[in-house]
Amino acid sequence: MSATGEFVTGAVAGVAAAVAGVMLVQQRSKFVKALGLQQKPVYTSTRGFAGKDGKGLDFETAVLAGLGEDGGLFVPSFFPQVSQDTIDSWYGLSFQALAYEIMSLYIPENQVPADKLRDIIDRSYATFRHEEVTPVVRVGSEGEGPKVLELWHGETWAFKDVALSFLGNMFEHFITRRNSLVTVLGATSGDTGSSAIHGLRGKKGVEVFILFPEGRVSPIQELQMTTVAEENVHCLAVKGTFDDAQAIVKAMFRDPSAREQFNLGAVNSINFCRILAQITYYFYSYLRIVPKGSGKRISFSVPTGNFGDILAGYYAKRMGLPVDRLIVATNDNEIVHQFFSRGEYFKPAEVQQTLAPSMDICVSSNFERFLYHMVDDDAETLAAMMKEFEETGKLKASEDLLRRSQAEMSSASLSRSEIIAVVKDNYEKYQYLLDPHSAIGVGAADKVNVTTSDVVCLACAHWGKFTDAAGQAIGEETFAKIPYPPLLEQLKSLPKRKTVLDATKDAVRNEMSKFVKKE
Ligand SMILES: *Cc1c(COP(=O)(O)O)cnc(C)c1O
Ligand SMILES: *[C@@H]1O[C@H](CO)[C@@H](O)[C@H](O)[C@H]1NC(C)=O
Repeated sequence: MSATGEFVTGAVAGVAAAVAGVMLVQQRSKFVKALGLQQKPVYTSTRGFAGKDGKGLDFETAVLAGLGEDGGLFVPSFFPQVSQDTIDSWYGLSFQALAYEIMSLYIPENQVPADKLRDIIDRSYATFRHEEVTPVVRVGSEGEGPKVLELWHGETWAFKDVALSFLGNMFEHFITRRNSLVTVLGATSGDTGSSAIHGLRGKKGVEVFILFPEGRVSPIQELQMTTVAEENVHCLAVKGTFDDAQAIVKAMFRDPSAREQFNLGAVNSINFCRILAQITYYFYSYLRIVPKGSGKRISFSVPTGNFGDILAGYYAKRMGLPVDRLIVATNDNEIVHQFFSRGEYFKPAEVQQTLAPSMDICVSSNFERFLYHMVDDDAETLAAMMKEFEETGKLKASEDLLRRSQAEMSSASLSRSEIIAVVKDNYEKYQYLLDPHSAIGVGAADKVNVTTSDVVCLACAHWGKFTDAAGQAIGEETFAKIPYPPLLEQLKSLPKRKTVLDATKDAVRNEMSKFVKKE
């Protein structure tokens, strides 16, 4: 059996045991050695936790645990490499077949057999309304507009479905295999929650609690969560911001008694499985845009909040995808834009409410993974940086760190009026209606003005989820004439369920205790 085998046998106790001891790992080479002949990555936390034996966690354990006990995020011990020949051999594959090729580089067969993985992928993407799953659209009659990667054809009409429909089925597979129960706890600024709920509703052995900031998610986002009838789904509206909600989730994961009581699993954007699922569409759009054998590279402009989506693009590049520029596109909550332009990362006093609420965050949780890679996967250095950030609310990058980061990514930020201008412009020129998040990606691509490759702009949501911007941009009268998607309209007449709570860990824990009985 491979080195990963030992984690498989411990079932649920294994998850707790694997995360019980924190071991600081100084040398990456240790993992490479531990890997021996093993060809799939293992996972360690960005802050050093590497499992009880210090050898790293296997895929299943990392997915079920979500977050390291030390508060760090799981990162792979290496990036499986894909050659240009292999990429060339992938032309013509369906989205599902491509997803299989990529995911099987990470997922060990003893945890998910090949047939099972294909089945999980097929079931995950069968819920999508477009046969290509994530089509690349050349906007404009002559394709003269932006190249838009439409990621919103899943059940909740936002890009998070691509990852969460897959994660939901993976969770079910692992939990069934272990014959155990898991409580999924996540915080959402809107899209993650609805997407997670749809990915996990009615799944056996899974109780789902989703926290969201009361009054700060769009009406449709809220309906997509609160109208789900399955009894394993619990919507908790906390009286605070998204960051308050996320802080409660992180605190619960860090509390051993809570982890034990609930056997917690995470689905928010820190789960490695989500990043993995998102890597697929970077490869997919390359295969759609770049002619085979042309040797061309490709760029991506990515509307960014928690930094999970753009991180998947960076991981695709690390695997060998010929990526030119990665553009971090932000709204007024531009903490990462400040980092890439000035090398300063700081926690602002409060979150700005913008037209793109799914990007209204002030701390980008996945950014920690990027920083980790920018310091050469040195967990000790990273842990010290995060400690400083948590204590002082800011981080100043060294010149070297800033230079390295800028070599990987560019950034641009769009104000409210700029978002509206992009929506207006694309509608007037091409009759293509962008949602405000997607407009930020398109606008940032214009600002960064990449001249060395084609830029694919990630469209993260359908306009029907965030109607404020469209009305303002193209005029309420014109907007009213565009038919609203019937599937979204129908939600308004369904029964709703939610519980409003104070934004405290105790309030949330009490509520959860009502539904989760200690085994
Ligand atoms: C989540 C989300 C984003 C931000 O993605 P991250 O991975 O958190 O950076 C952007 N747009 C929409 C519509 C989203 O739901
Ligand atoms: C983009 O760059 C090119 C070449 O440097 C320049 O000619 C063009 O005017 C620029 N476009 C914008 C919108 O800045």
